[in-house]
Amino acid sequence: MKYGFFDDERKEYVITNPQTPFPWINYLGNEDFFSLISNTAGGYSFYKDAKFRRLNRYRYNNVPIDNGGRYFYINDGGTIWSPGWKPVKTELDKYECRHGLSYTSVKGEKNGIEAEVVFFVPLNSWCEIQKMKLTNKGNKTKKVKLFSLIEWCLWNAEDDQNNLQRNLSTGEVEIHGSTLYHKTEYKERRNHYAFYYVNAPVQGYDTDRESFIGLYNEFSHPDVVVTGKSKNSEAHGWSPIASHCIEVELQAGESKEYVFLLGYVENEEDQKWESKGVINKTKAKALINKFDTTDKVNQALHELSIYWKNLLSIYSLDSEDKKLDRMVNIWNQYQCMVTFNMSRSASFFEVGIGRGMGFRDSNQDLIGFVHQIPERARERIIDIASTQFEDGGAYHQYQPLTKRGNDAVGGNFNDDPLWLILSTTAYIKETGDFSILEEMVPFDNDESLAKTHFEHLKASFYHVTNNLGPHQLPLIGRADWNDCLNLNCFSKDPNESFQTTENQTGGSAESVMIAGLFVVYGRDYVELCRKTGKKNEADEAQKHVDNMVKAIKKNGWDGEWYLRAYDFFGKKVGSQKNEEGKIFIESQGWCTMAEIGMEDGMCEKALNSVKEHLDCEYGIVLNNPAFTEYVIEYGEISTYPAGYKENAGIFCHNNPWVIIGETLIGRGDQAWEYFRKICPSYLEEISDLHKTEPYVYAQMIAGKDASRPGEAKNSWLSGTAAWNYYTITQYILGIKPSYDGLEISPCIPKSWKSYRVSRKFRGALYEISIDNSAGVNCGIKELKVNGEIIKSHIVPIQKAGTINKIIVVLG
Ligand code: GLC
Ligand code: GLC
Repeated sequence: MKYGFFDDERKEYVITNPQTPFPWINYLGNEDFFSLISNTAGGYSFYKDAKFRRLNRYRYNNVPIDNGGRYFYINDGGTIWSPGWKPVKTELDKYECRHGLSYTSVKGEKNGIEAEVVFFVPLNSWCEIQKMKLTNKGNKTKKVKLFSLIEWCLWNAEDDQNNLQRNLSTGEVEIHGSTLYHKTEYKERRNHYAFYYVNAPVQGYDTDRESFIGLYNEFSHPDVVVTGKSKNSEAHGWSPIASHCIEVELQAGESKEYVFLLGYVENEEDQKWESKGVINKTKAKALINKFDTTDKVNQALHELSIYWKNLLSIYSLDSEDKKLDRMVNIWNQYQCMVTFNMSRSASFFEVGIGRGMGFRDSNQDLIGFVHQIPERARERIIDIASTQFEDGGAYHQYQPLTKRGNDAVGGNFNDDPLWLILSTTAYIKETGDFSILEEMVPFDNDESLAKTHFEHLKASFYHVTNNLGPHQLPLIGRADWNDCLNLNCFSKDPNESFQTTENQTGGSAESVMIAGLFVVYGRDYVELCRKTGKKNEADEAQKHVDNMVKAIKKNGWDGEWYLRAYDFFGKKVGSQKNEEGKIFIESQGWCTMAEIGMEDGMCEKALNSVKEHLDCEYGIVLNNPAFTEYVIEYGEISTYPAGYKENAGIFCHNNPWVIIGETLIGRGDQAWEYFRKICPSYLEEISDLHKTEPYVYAQMIAGKDASRPGEAKNSWLSGTAAWNYYTITQYILGIKPSYDGLEISPCIPKSWKSYRVSRKFRGALYEISIDNSAGVNCGIKELKVNGEIIKSHIVPIQKAGTINKIIVVLG
């Protein structure tokens, strides 16, 4: 069952039924100021950090789900409704929500009145704009009352929820005409305040929640809306809100537009006050002045659309398959940009409090957006590297506001360092900017410890070789990519977290996945050394890579597939010998990507085993058989019910690793089948089962052992976005940036006849047509660059500003 449709022309997903199987959301904002918005306008905004600078309150895990947001209410002669259906839930005559690129429009119609609100965060501005248009579609003059509502969060979202003894006494506001200011804690250590404005005179306002809603009412029927009369309340302590009331008279056919603006301001310490106790509003007024008319707002919307047009123009696909085109050209790239901004911090599954920017997550995310925003990608790489330790190890995450590492979600994950090599080499291949390697970058944010960025990569590389176990495989540490394979944890206490609890020492748990990862990025490190004239270092590093290959072949192979690990006691994990968890996806992915034992048929064997044991209708599960009992020496993985998350769920992030493996052995049909299974645009028809948005990837889809296989969870903020984008564009469609040019190596289904890709790369445009009339999976028969046949598969870098025709004949 579908709940809407794709409007590719406008690059929107259009929701036509407000009761989606889960809130289907969108993100507003591209730098500094962000909002989350659901299809019923639920959600919240924050400045830079969803924990420390949250503007409006949001209650997660609520009943009903998604309660609270920026709400509008219309009182039309006693009939009360909301344009986004919620919170009033009066049945609408018409409803439509359009999620577009950094904007969302919500439109409702009831009794001849249409209300359309466009929500967006303008470029380079710290505010959310809500452009409201009311239209009288009937043939009589109508008078309605329009109420707005924002509930302020007291900045620190965590404290806001748990320190009520203090917070219920701190709320403070200022009221000036149509602008309602929120200034809780401004007089002490904060230099920021927020405000909610509308560009029209108001009949009334409220700033105190209880006065507005009524203690025993709900968002659906606030006192003030029901009675049609604001109370002009002023919050003192208790819970501050902001609500405007506008009386609107509409002739038959007439429309009126209003601009509501939710803004954020920071003042210099000596500029905080206008007079004693009165906040300095200069910046607020300037912000208001930028957007106080519909024309100004439309202009800002136009600028936003140009911004996105440019971002999406770097890679575009024209194939025979619309579902694929819309993912590659619009939604997958869009989701990658959202993961750039949010990492894993704020979604409808991530509460914006506990998790900041992950070291491994943010490095991996980068491969999904580096082509769009290379300068910001560069800055991100330096930010991440600045939190690294001198020995190459890493904090597992850092807070975006302070850019400092912390161990709130643990540390000592031994895969972490290697992802820095991935992000850095991806950046250099895209841009050709080797100068990043010479940049001085601190360790642990301590400038006195700064060394070149290259030294950081070196530290990453040797962090692995300095931490090998008895089988010459990398020690796993707290865990590797799989946060839940906690081989040193031995947790018996339900009150401790698997992520942060003290690990047992004295064991020797090793990871075959990190081994494969090391071979892949170790080779990249060697190549980088060679490119930059560090021959001795390259030779030295190559030896370590060769040793790792040997160690995997000797100690990491189980006969039909690669082992997953050795546990604390040196016993095999992911082996025929195990009762449960005989085979795991991660090591099959990484060891085939590293082509370990390719010459002996190991890769093909391992991938056949994946097909046989891990594949199912909805994707490839993480392990098989699923764990049905708690295995104390494995940790969190065995705590999930079978078929969910890391215990045999389809953890979409790792499916592309196997897909890349398939392309490396040339099986384009198999690669494509796996890709399609988890790609959201192909799942639109089963939205009632899949549940999450058909336009973005989810982290996890319930696997074959779950009670509802195919049900997705945790959409948006997942490494799945970047990895799938990387895999489809570079390994299936086969257009790969490399140091010396654009490498062309498609691996596609035999049935594809042709496709075209237009790629901007280092300033030039490449218009690439792929002809597969031969009906093969891969292999290039002929490659022409501007009419000239070239022997190599790498199209040399062309002059900036040129347009180049690349014709590729497969066969
Ligand atoms: C989550 C984490 C990621 C981890 C994965 C597997 O997606 O963000 O860091 O690798 O789970 O456990
Ligand atoms: C849990 C999740 C895992 C996530 C981790 C982050 O273990 O299962 O996916 O990466 O929490 O803290």
